[in-house]
Amino acid sequence: MSARPVPRPGVLSIEAYVPGKSAAPGVPKVYKLSSNETPLGPSPKAVAAVKAMAGELEYYPDGAATALREAIAAKYGLDPARIVCGAGSDELLSLLTNAYVGPGDEGVFTTHGFLVYRIAILAAGGTPVIAEETNHTADVDAILAKVTPRTKIVFLANPNNPTGTYLPFDEVKRLHAGLPPQVLLVLDAAYAEYVRRNDYASGLELVATSENVVMTRTFSKIYGLAGLRLGWMVGPAHVVDAVNRIRGPFNVNAPAIAAGVAALSDEAHVAAAVAHNDEWLPWLSREIEALGLKVTPSVGNFLLIHFPETPGRTAKEADAFLTKRGLILRGVAAYGLSNALRLTVGTEEANRLVVAALADFLKAGAR
Ligand SMILES: Cc1ncc(COP(=O)(O)O)c(C=O)c1O
Repeated sequence: MSARPVPRPGVLSIEAYVPGKSAAPGVPKVYKLSSNETPLGPSPKAVAAVKAMAGELEYYPDGAATALREAIAAKYGLDPARIVCGAGSDELLSLLTNAYVGPGDEGVFTTHGFLVYRIAILAAGGTPVIAEETNHTADVDAILAKVTPRTKIVFLANPNNPTGTYLPFDEVKRLHAGLPPQVLLVLDAAYAEYVRRNDYASGLELVATSENVVMTRTFSKIYGLAGLRLGWMVGPAHVVDAVNRIRGPFNVNAPAIAAGVAALSDEAHVAAAVAHNDEWLPWLSREIEALGLKVTPSVGNFLLIHFPETPGRTAKEADAFLTKRGLILRGVAAYGLSNALRLTVGTEEANRLVVAALADFLKAGAR
């Protein structure tokens, strides 16, 4: 008998998620480039929708988020009954794991896969299983090799955070074809809107044609609504049914529902964010590589920058140097990438400052 309450097995093996830093003490102007947020902010239509809700906060939201599910369904040609909204896609990743994984079960994800997968699997009492990546990219054969009779869920972030790499849709289909039908494949497409590759697809087609595939999406990235916590998933009816049974009855708040509907209607705002990324992602890659640093090719709104282990030039020292200038990047040691930093594409001003600061940092380290 224990003298105090003890969490379920697995809970205390969780390293709590540490979000990207947002402050640089003593620095007058801070550029937060640590959480893959959009430099363009939310759509003015979404802001207006939130303001309009401010006088009605005494009412519970629509627990089924009907207006939002209908708006998403109209945009993507889906059945609203197959959509579930969540307080961020994080919540949906946890709900899916809780619905399908328990003690003795395994969940598979890749070496540098998004950290929430590991947390969700452990929190559900399951065992995380890691599939090796190749060149910081998910490897279908390595994932399939990790599948056992105990596997209940496979997570694939496509594109992945923090690497920015992606799998072409043919590879995703090959992954699905190799999975037993009782394994749930979760395609996490948080950055789908940014991808500009003909061989990429977020996974809607697979969801529509199979009984074991779910796709999750977020309003936190290109829609600039991270602070409201809003995401959605689409899946087969039986998975939607399971998730709806365990989710909180009012898991998405009313301002978030209203903002989501308004944001979806502002296609020009999304197009502007895509155009900004199309310009500055390649610019940052080129400029940073020209400084002699290796950058993993990215299709998202962020870049993984690799630093040497030479004292004076390490990722940790670069992080401290940049922070002193108010430039906050993301240390990714928790992802097993202690020699790298992740940089979110920022405003033109922030992007130029980062490149200039990195050049100064490398000069200082060379002395
Ligand atoms: C790959 C991936 N999936 C999901 C999320 C969660 O997004 P949210 O919970 O804000 O929708 C993130 C956020 O960083 C992410 O990078």
